Amino acid sequence: MKKILITGGAGFIGSHVVRRFVKNYPQYHIYNLDLLTYAGNLENIADIQNESNYTFIKGDIVDEVFINALFQEHQFDGVIHLAAESHVDRSITNPIAFVKTNVIGTMNLLHAAKTIWANIPEDKRFYHISTDEVYGSLGMDGLFTETTAYDPNSPYSASKASSDHFVRAYGETYNLPYVITNCSNNYGPNHFPEKLIPLFINNIINNKPLPVYGDGNYTRDWLFVEDHARAIDLVFHKGKNHETYNIGGFNEWKNIDLVKLLCQIMDQKLDRVSGTSENLIAYVKDRPGHDLRYAIDASKINQELGWKPSVTFEQGLEITIDWYLNNETWLKNVTSGAYQNYYEKQYH
Ligand code: NAD
Ligand code: DAU
Repeated sequence: MKKILITGGAGFIGSHVVRRFVKNYPQYHIYNLDLLTYAGNLENIADIQNESNYTFIKGDIVDEVFINALFQEHQFDGVIHLAAESHVDRSITNPIAFVKTNVIGTMNLLHAAKTIWANIPEDKRFYHISTDEVYGSLGMDGLFTETTAYDPNSPYSASKASSDHFVRAYGETYNLPYVITNCSNNYGPNHFPEKLIPLFINNIINNKPLPVYGDGNYTRDWLFVEDHARAIDLVFHKGKNHETYNIGGFNEWKNIDLVKLLCQIMDQKLDRVSGTSENLIAYVKDRPGHDLRYAIDASKINQELGWKPSVTFEQGLEITIDWYLNNETWLKNVTSGAYQNYYEKQYH
């Protein structure tokens, strides 16, 4: 039985990836390593906790001694690395935490994998999950390709860019078998309500202001999280060694247009008079270093591996909104306690 380590599997994207691998690959034993920071939540994966091919391990990827011991003990055959500090706004107020987890944490995993795989690298794989933000900002046109030069603008994207470089360096220097994907903005169930879509769904439910940064004319390329998990599955199994693949939704939206669409759907779902939620829109101070536009050219993964998104944005948004409306307890649990302090500091 192959032993696969997935890091960050209690977070948003990681929980969808862990579930997919546990359910679809009974021939693998999945080890989910997560520190359970504010963003990690065992409720996200409660449905698989008793599966026989699944083990949860609480631990910190920044702890080098712990990581080395874990790799020695389990002799993993593959690593799918998602654990990270992932929110741009938090990276602006606390950049050091991003260097620790995203750079040092990734280094520890790389080094431990290199050590246990020293003599048999061929059938092993270190899969690093990264972001399109490493490419910086696009103007009004053009797309990010796999050869676009790195040009990160936030402490978050700089830390992810740095980790990508270390993965490549381990590939070139030590022949570590690796693959990297750089994905655009995800949305879907279990998304922590500090990011645009779940934050605004929660605020609309609670009749709170919708804080649109700057003029709202920033553009993101949105992908449903299950489609990202499917791409990760495909790249892990079929992606070429030492390659990078961009993953995107073919689905660009200006923030303000997306927020207005969300407001319309929420008015219908909540039986509110049309226009009620739009009245909550409040233009607020812009994010420092705010990237104008991200958009992915996903033709490489499409042509080489046959991947493309399976749901339209309208379908994905409907599934997402219904999930939040049907999971009031999840939403209440994650927005109590420390969330309130974060919210006060960020928005007032
Ligand atoms: P998330 O913030 O929802 O989850 C991160 C998880 O990592 C949490 O469960 C957290 O507890 C865990 N974690 C954090 N620090 C840790 C540490 N030191 N040791 C062990 N575990 C730790 O993030 P997400 O949105 O699911 O993103 C997952 C990955 O995908 C990240 O690497 C992110 O950069 C990348 N990514 C995210 C998006 C997106 O739109 N959310 C898009 C592209 C790429
Ligand atoms: O592109 C991939 C990245 O997408 C991932 O690597 C990151 O982990 C993920 O957080 C996301 O980053 P963004 O900064 O694009 O996502 P966020 O949801 O924070 O913001 C989306 C857009 O909405 C961005 O232009 C900022 C804007 N925004 C965000 C918040 C939280 C607002 O206008 N108001 C807000 O309150």
